[in-house]
Amino acid sequence: MDLMESLDWYKVEQLSWPADWSAIFGREGPLLMEIGFGSGLFLVDMARRNPKANIIGLEIALPSIRNAAEKVARGGLTNVRLFQASAESTLQALCVPDSVAGVVINFPDPWPKKNHRDRRLIDDEFLCLLASRMFAGARLEIATDHVDYAGQITAVLQRSPHFESDLDVAFTRVDEGRVQTKYQQVALAEGRVPYFYKWRRNEVPAEDHFPIPKELPMPHVIIRLPADTSEIGRYFRPAVVEQESTYIRFVEAFQSFHDGKLLIETYINEGPILQRIGLEIRARATGEIVIGLAEIGFPRPTRGVHLAIAALVQWLRREFPSLVVVQSNLQGEYADIPHKRD
Ligand SMILES: C[S@@+](CC[C@H](N)C(=O)[O-])C[C@H]1O[C@@H](n2cnc3c(N)ncnc32)[C@H](O)[C@@H]1O
Repeated sequence: MDLMESLDWYKVEQLSWPADWSAIFGREGPLLMEIGFGSGLFLVDMARRNPKANIIGLEIALPSIRNAAEKVARGGLTNVRLFQASAESTLQALCVPDSVAGVVINFPDPWPKKNHRDRRLIDDEFLCLLASRMFAGARLEIATDHVDYAGQITAVLQRSPHFESDLDVAFTRVDEGRVQTKYQQVALAEGRVPYFYKWRRNEVPAEDHFPIPKELPMPHVIIRLPADTSEIGRYFRPAVVEQESTYIRFVEAFQSFHDGKLLIETYINEGPILQRIGLEIRARATGEIVIGLAEIGFPRPTRGVHLAIAALVQWLRREFPSLVVVQSNLQGEYADIPHKRD
């Protein structure tokens, strides 16, 4: 495999929800995952030791991905794919329940400051997500050199009904046969002895509180109002909309010199799914205005995107009370924007 082939991370936002892993790997195989692989030392070793497994490496830092991709390419490993993606979004959106055979998390960021602890990856909610995606018997390996995080990991594992230690104890401080990751080498050089967790998913069924997000039809709303796109742009102010677990931030409005079209830069957080998209407001020759999703990048028409467009229409209605919705395909609870034809 050459370097470009191993750089599969660039496609992550184009994968279907859930992903078809056997199509991606070109074969069936148990699905193993390393979360936050850093320089890739452990991932490459895992791929060598498990030639029959389909191995996914997840990382959010681009330099680490390039670094690891070179190691994968140099090693000629065909059973690894690297993705620039967070563990949370990959597990929830790309993996079906009971599909993952093993997860490794080596030296997750410890977030040592007290007021940053809620940023730690391993907590009760994350274990519930793991429990829903891993099948009975699947292995969960964690290593950390941070004493306080080790306390947290021990506590969440011990109170989870879905995992059991392979050892008689919660963790071990020695793991001779294991390839040392870069962070492990630093920890040892600085005199910190790591904690190694070797746990396993048990048979207790896990409720799935983490549904795979659905893609809805490409949203569009056609409206009439007494303003053109330039005037709408002048009224625009940054705003935030929150509903249940969806958080939408309208950041800025940009106008095209060419055709007057407005692009509203919008951030949408739906649980672990984060999208930075453009919502488009354009005039038709008839004078009607169309609001939709700009096809910049690879936007996914989720429930949150439909909600964002509904929120834009509601904002415009507040600014221009005579606004009339001529047509809308917004789904679910947003479909009830009054439709009036004049
Ligand atoms: C402290 S480093 C450890 C790297 C490597 N595992 C090692 O032991 O050398 C933690 C890594 O996790 C990555 N990371 C942090 N949060 C993540 C997430 N939610 N999903 C995937 N990777 C994540 C970071 O970018 C970073 O490279």
